[in-house]
Amino acid sequence: MFNKQSNNSRSVGKGFDRIAFFYDKMAAIASFNQINKSQLTFISHLSTQSHCLILGGGTGDFLHQLLIINKSVKITYVDASEKMIEYSKQRILKYLPADLNRVDFICADVADFKFETYDVIVCNYFLDLFEDEIVQGLLQQFYSALSPDGILYVTDFVLYTSQSLQSYISKINLWVLFHFFRLATYLKTKRLVDVEQQILLNKFKRIIRKKFLGGMLQSIIFQKMN
Ligand SMILES: C[S@@+](CC[C@H](N)C(=O)[O-])C[C@H]1O[C@@H](n2cnc3c(N)ncnc32)[C@H](O)[C@@H]1O
Repeated sequence: MFNKQSNNSRSVGKGFDRIAFFYDKMAAIASFNQINKSQLTFISHLSTQSHCLILGGGTGDFLHQLLIINKSVKITYVDASEKMIEYSKQRILKYLPADLNRVDFICADVADFKFETYDVIVCNYFLDLFEDEIVQGLLQQFYSALSPDGILYVTDFVLYTSQSLQSYISKINLWVLFHFFRLATYLKTKRLVDVEQQILLNKFKRIIRKKFLGGMLQSIIFQKMN
């Protein structure tokens, strides 16, 4: 069962507080802007849903874009970092003030969050922060919380197995980024989980997928197998 062992969230929240002010720039530089681009790639598939949960949304760029393309969606926005929540709020206040009331900002560890029912659950560069066991527990909660035709929208790093030179370069980039996050944010995770494989093993099917940065990043839409 999923419980509070998830990353010791109070310190993870504080850890992400420390890097919130330069997180977007750092992610853009380290990934040639592909971290941002990859997570927006299928956002047009979310233009009609009515209740979306965004987990670990960071500084709120995805939130901003979602509010633009879907004029009626209500969004529950959960992040363990007070600073990330504050940046997101300020972003919406500045660019889409009339839409602020469509977002419920919750500063909490996902382990403490009480799931309701959603048409969409979004995890962009979030599930890779946790060990297998925690991801497994989260996926079970996602399955119960998603409506029958609901969408699980996931963008994440990929465990890359090709032996090409590009794959070695990708692995080095990935290693640097991953260890930077671990150090900067006090993450306890020691290795990357194979997120896609875990999701497929937990009663979800893949609907559409796109890879970025030589296959090192990917965005996927999943739905429940009924
Ligand atoms: C790597 S960042 C990704 C941010 C954003 N989704 C993006 O792709 O740019 C991970 C986010 O998850 C949040 N986070 C980390 N652990 C968490 C937890 N246990 N519960 C809720 N949020 C968490 C962090 O504060 C951070 O904003």
